[in-house]
Amino acid sequence: MTALTHTGGRTPTITLNNGVAMPALGLGVFQSPPAETVGAVEAALRTGYRLIDTAAAYANEREVGEGIRRSGVARDEVFIETKVWISDYGYDTTLHAFDKSARKLGVEQLDLLILHQPIPSVFDRTLEAYRALETLLADGKVRAIGVSNFMPEHLQRLLAETSVVPAVNQIEVHPFFQQTALQRLHAERGILTQAWSPIGGITSYRGGEKRTFDDPILMEIARQHGKSAAQVMLRWHLQEGRSAIPKSTKPARIAENFEVFDFELSGDQIAAIDALDTRVRGGPDPASITLETYGKEIPEA
Ligand SMILES: NC(=O)c1ccc[n+]([C@@H]2O[C@H](COP(=O)([O-])OP(=O)(O)OC[C@H]3O[C@@H](n4cnc5c(N)ncnc54)[C@H](OP(=O)(O)O)[C@@H]3O)[C@@H](O)[C@H]2O)c1
Repeated sequence: MTALTHTGGRTPTITLNNGVAMPALGLGVFQSPPAETVGAVEAALRTGYRLIDTAAAYANEREVGEGIRRSGVARDEVFIETKVWISDYGYDTTLHAFDKSARKLGVEQLDLLILHQPIPSVFDRTLEAYRALETLLADGKVRAIGVSNFMPEHLQRLLAETSVVPAVNQIEVHPFFQQTALQRLHAERGILTQAWSPIGGITSYRGGEKRTFDDPILMEIARQHGKSAAQVMLRWHLQEGRSAIPKSTKPARIAENFEVFDFELSGDQIAAIDALDTRVRGGPDPASITLETYGKEIPEA
C-alpha cells in the first residue's frame, strides 16, 4: 500500500479502493486567505507536493487553480481534492456543485470529490448528494469519491443505501484525537482515513490550552530525530497508513512539513504517540451540523 520512500522526485502514494493512486501527503488550504493561497499552492508544488485539498466552503478554489497553473507542474501530475458544501446537497444541486468547483479550479475533471459533512437531521439529502457523486464518477468527471466527518452511524447508513464504497473519509486525526474505532471501521471497509488537522492545528488556532506543538513527548521524539514536532506527527500518520494534509501559507513551513521521508519512527515511538489520545474532539461534533446553523451559499463560478 504505502511506499514511504521518496523516490525519483515523486511523492509516496496510497492506492484507493478503486485503484486510483493518491499522494499520501498533501497541502491543506482551510483558512488560507485567497491572496495567500496562490503562493502557498505554488510553493507546495515546487517543493514536491502533488496533492492539494480545498473545499467549496473555503472560498479559495479559484486561487488553488491559479497556484497550480503558475507552478508549471502539469495538470495530470497534480491530485486535486475538493468538497461539496452542505448547502449544495441534493441530487441536481450536487451535480451543479461539481460544475461550480471545476470551473473555479479551471479543470475539466477532479481527482477526488467528497461530501464535506453529513447532515444528520436530513440524511436523505446527504444520500442524494452522494448519489450525484456516484453519477459524476460513472461519467468520468471525477476519478474518486468520498466523504468527510462521517461517524460510524453515518457511514453504516451510507454503505447500506448507496453503491460505491467511499474511497476516503477525511476526519479529524492528530495525536490528541485519534478516532481509533472509526479508523478500524475504515480499514474493514477499504476506506482510506485522511487526517485533517494532522499536526493538531485545531488545538492551536482555536486558542486551546494544550497545543500539540508543545507536547513534551512529541518534542522529545522530535529531538531524538533532529526533527520538529510537526514532522514527527506527519511521519506518524504516514507510518500508520493515513493520508495527511497539513496546512500552512508559509513557504518555510510548507517545506518543513514535506521533509518527512528521511527518518523512521520506532515501534515504541509510535506507541508513545498513540498513547497521547485524549478522545476530546477539537472541531465541531458532526452530529451538530445543520443547514440552519452552518448553511451558506456557495457562489457560482
Ligand atoms: N474536512 C474538514 O471538515 C476539515 C476541517 C479542518 C481542516 N481540513 C483540512 O485539513 C487541512 C489541515 O488542517 P488544519 O488547517 O485544521 O490544521 P493543521 O494542518 O494541523 O495545522 C495548521 C496550523 O498549524 C500551523 N502550522 C503549519 N505547519 C506548521 C509547522 N511546521 N510548525 C508549526 N505550526 C505550523 C499553520 O499556520 P501557518 O499557516 O501560519 O503556518 C496553521 O495555523 C486544512 O487546511 C483543510 O484542507 C478539513
